[in-house]
Amino acid sequence: MGQIILWIVNIMTNNTESDVIIETKNVTRTFWMGEVEVRALRGVSLKIKRGEFVAIMGSSGSGKSTFLNQLGLLDIPTSGTVIIDSVDTSKMSEKEKGEFRLHNLGYVFQDYALLPELSAIENVYLPLVMQGKRKKEYQRAASTLLTAVGLEDRLNQFPSKMSGGQQQRVSIARALAHKPRVLFADEPCANLDSVASRQILELFKKFNKEEGQTIVMVTHEDWHVEYVDRIIRLKDGVLE
Ligand SMILES: Nc1ncnc2c1ncn2[C@@H]1O[C@H](COP(=O)(O)OP(=O)(O)OP(=O)(O)O)[C@@H](O)[C@H]1O
Ligand SMILES: [Mg+2]
Repeated sequence: MGQIILWIVNIMTNNTESDVIIETKNVTRTFWMGEVEVRALRGVSLKIKRGEFVAIMGSSGSGKSTFLNQLGLLDIPTSGTVIIDSVDTSKMSEKEKGEFRLHNLGYVFQDYALLPELSAIENVYLPLVMQGKRKKEYQRAASTLLTAVGLEDRLNQFPSKMSGGQQQRVSIARALAHKPRVLFADEPCANLDSVASRQILELFKKFNKEEGQTIVMVTHEDWHVEYVDRIIRLKDGVLE
């Protein structure tokens, strides 16, 4: 009896396909600099589970950003496939990928990438406007997210009047306002001091735990690992 229950539990917990939100199969990316070939990724196969918070680590030049860009459909692999939520993205046209990114994926960058001429709330709702959401809906979503990141009293402030940590929190609100299936972050704390970095990591952790948000974050910092579920290490373009 015990064996049978174990077997059923095993089947239930190992039925990975629906659990898996991202799968890469032998992804490579080669850059050409004139005659010189740079093999930034040399065949990376892995699975990331729905609701996981993973860190991609490795020394400078190991291929972290290149890999994140493949996962986030910001670049095209030289060979191999990236499957997101059972969708084989290698079969998509550029236009389909653009649509998929807008509706399903969120991004946080090292330099915040906010539009300086827009206020915090306008930065956050711009992608929702592009998605064709109605005014009431996008205003509500943007102010809810800005409140969740602790900026409820700065809705109308411009990025130039904010600290780096505050700007990064606006960019997190923007990345999450449309409830993306996956949030990608490339060294989100690289320009922040340790206090502001902790606030950003705490926020990621909160969205991961409370909303089940899947997060893939590139980081250099060893102390960041205490926040994540799993570390993916790259070395010279392969998994270590
Ligand atoms: N657009 C590009 N053209 C040519 N080579 C590139 C390009 N992008 C990345 N590379 C090269 O690919 C390799 C991996 O770069 P990548 O930016 O992915 O590393 P990284 O691990 O993110 O490094 P860092 O920690 O410094 O950000 C490096 O040798 C880099 O010089
Ligand atoms: Mg990088």
